[in-house]
Amino acid sequence: MALLEVHQLSKSFNSTQAVKSISFSVDNGRCVTLLGPNGAGKTTTLRMLSGLLKPSQGSIHFTEMTKGEDLRRFIGYLPQYPMFYNWMSGQEYLVYVGQLALMHKRAANDRAIELLARVGLADAGRRRISGYSGGMRQRLGIAQAMMHNPKLVILDEPVSALDPIGRREVLDMMRDIKKETTILFSTHVLPDAEEISDDLLIMNEGQIVVAGSMKSVMDEYRQPIIRLRGETSLEVWQQSLSALEGIESVVCNGEYVELQVTDMTIGRSSLVKLLADQCIAIRKLEVAELSLEDIFMKAVNV
Ligand SMILES: Nc1ncnc2c1ncn2[C@@H]1O[C@H](COP(=O)(O)OP(=O)(O)OP(=O)(O)O)[C@@H](O)[C@H]1O
Ligand SMILES: [Mg+2]
Repeated sequence: MALLEVHQLSKSFNSTQAVKSISFSVDNGRCVTLLGPNGAGKTTTLRMLSGLLKPSQGSIHFTEMTKGEDLRRFIGYLPQYPMFYNWMSGQEYLVYVGQLALMHKRAANDRAIELLARVGLADAGRRRISGYSGGMRQRLGIAQAMMHNPKLVILDEPVSALDPIGRREVLDMMRDIKKETTILFSTHVLPDAEEISDDLLIMNEGQIVVAGSMKSVMDEYRQPIIRLRGETSLEVWQQSLSALEGIESVVCNGEYVELQVTDMTIGRSSLVKLLADQCIAIRKLEVAELSLEDIFMKAVNV
């Protein structure tokens, strides 16, 4: 069931049309990734959804929201570049955020303790934020987005600035949050999106160019490929490779070759025959499928 429905949403900044009449929905209990190149309009979209930016046109509707209700009650938001009061402790900061969301101090205090434990900051909760690592700050940022028990948590690039350890910590946390809250997050780290999301939205130049469940998108774009690496450059063989039965197209880059295959059984055997007949020295031959990164590149026409 849809938790959130967005209809023909647009945003212009003077002459820049950052978001161009996008429509999509977010289903309850799903983890949705928003992808797109720099400047695609992701942050602008997420800021409109979180109530921080007024749309130029269009509507944002929570199915459980009654008319005139403030949508911020339904949403927790972690900005792309979160700012903290460094002189506060993690615990003080969460209580402060809770009180801004009109929680009573006592309830905010209890919730802060619960969330600090949940995001692995129980021991650091009384320390000043100025001493926190990047990963700890990001986890505190996610905790603050969860303070008022929102229906939807929006995270704008929660892992992009982190090292692999910090990234892993945040991903594990998101996996935990996902059990009870709907998540919409943007990222440039495609393997993370592939690992954690149920649904996918890809934006390009202010428009949504791909939308669907991760599985349906992967199925739609799924095309078998063969990757070859020669001992030396294979560019002289480009034409012969392109002419093989079962092969649709060939991209050759020095010793690296990628063949898009229409029929794997036929394509693979005609390729192996060519390699053997012409004594082409091969270092590696791999059968693969388009990754999310390949799909992303196709969707945004890179
Ligand atoms: N406050 C603003 N004033 C003017 N233009 C803006 C403003 N915010 C965003 N833009 C423009 O809107 C477009 C979309 O920007 P946005 O920040 O939404 O992209 P993004 O997909 O989040 O990019 P990134 O991956 O770099 O974070 C860009 O052309 C940007 O320059
Ligand atoms: Mg952004």
